[in-house]
Amino acid sequence: MNTVLNLLDRKLYLERYPVKHQHKSLQAWDAADEYAMKYLDELISNDEIKALEGRTLVLNDDFGALSIWLHEYKPYSLSDSWVSHKSAKVNLKHNELSIDDVTFVTSTDELSTLVNQPLKLVVLKLPRSMAYLQHQLIQLQQVIDSDTTIIACGKVKSVTSSVIKLFEKHLGPVKTSLAQKKARLMFCQYQGLKESLPDPTLIEDSAVSFKLLNLANVFSREQVDVGARLLLKQLPDCNQQQVIDLGCGNGILGIQTLLNNPEAHLTFVDESYMAVESARQNLMNAQGHTDNASFVVSNCLDEVLMKQRSFADHILCNPPFHQQNVITDHIAYQMFNDSKKALKPGGQVRIVANRHLDYPHKLNRLFDGHDVLASNSKFSVMACIN
Ligand SMILES: C[S@@+](CC[C@H](N)C(=O)[O-])C[C@H]1O[C@@H](n2cnc3c(N)ncnc32)[C@H](O)[C@@H]1O
Repeated sequence: MNTVLNLLDRKLYLERYPVKHQHKSLQAWDAADEYAMKYLDELISNDEIKALEGRTLVLNDDFGALSIWLHEYKPYSLSDSWVSHKSAKVNLKHNELSIDDVTFVTSTDELSTLVNQPLKLVVLKLPRSMAYLQHQLIQLQQVIDSDTTIIACGKVKSVTSSVIKLFEKHLGPVKTSLAQKKARLMFCQYQGLKESLPDPTLIEDSAVSFKLLNLANVFSREQVDVGARLLLKQLPDCNQQQVIDLGCGNGILGIQTLLNNPEAHLTFVDESYMAVESARQNLMNAQGHTDNASFVVSNCLDEVLMKQRSFADHILCNPPFHQQNVITDHIAYQMFNDSKKALKPGGQVRIVANRHLDYPHKLNRLFDGHDVLASNSKFSVMACIN
């Protein structure tokens, strides 16, 4: 992994968390970050923006590069990703900076209660989800004014006309930069509109016996995922047992398991704050309490394994194949390895995955074989016993 960013006269050491599971070709910043950093440096050195201390906000910083670049202004860093925040904290340390240089804000925090005077500078890395972008633009209306400098950055292909229209609708007029190394910047002038946040989406689907509410950045927020649909038909009988829903999203798999087995205990785990919050609200709505459940925001099972190992009877997993904008299998592999550590002897992990992925080999090596419980033309549900 390339870990040294040399830019202008500065040198930063930046890793993607967790280092040991990452592909060597990936690095912790991209051309859009570099473009924004260069532009910001110019603005600041020309005195075009001032008094930034405590009045700077970075949104969706992938691994901390932008927040660290702006660390002397004590920025807020808002993200839906536990992994992004953790990476930024680790990278602050690597660069011998204080963790207190950045105030970390999660996507489920009330931003307007944390920021008590209008921001001077907002740097927004474009997220993948349009619904989440819309949520963030409306959220920004509470903490900016017409003097706020607003810069968005992303890959050229993510600066689409719909993205520009969304900024214009919720904030104000937009100008775009020329492309540089396939990245582009957007500059936006806030016009003063104030709106309330859109309601979460609500799905009703015969695949589950309850309604699913999804906050803005939750996976498959408009419909039940095809893989989840197949795994829902293969849920375990597990009353009085310990079950983990790993990468729980809105909690669809774990909640249906609990409704079928009300005396089980479910641990819902996801690295997205909005996912875990959606799972919590969905379970509350489905059974009126959450007494038989725990909710953990974590990279795979990092935070769970720190407290407990060899305790789970069942793990349900519909693994992700993205980290931010990059397609990757390293998260699924960490999920399989962590599952092995969390399962008690004889415990079982059930995984649904696209059939073209090379998971069976990996699982065979880790668990001494696997069974296929169900499959269709695209997906299969595999079970491995510890
Ligand atoms: C394919 S979705 C499955 C969601 C839900 N279980 C379902 O079946 O619809 C994968 C989930 O893994 C989560 N995820 C991604 N990276 C993760 C990580 N490093 N640790 C924990 N969860 C992660 C995503 O936020 C997403 O909710």
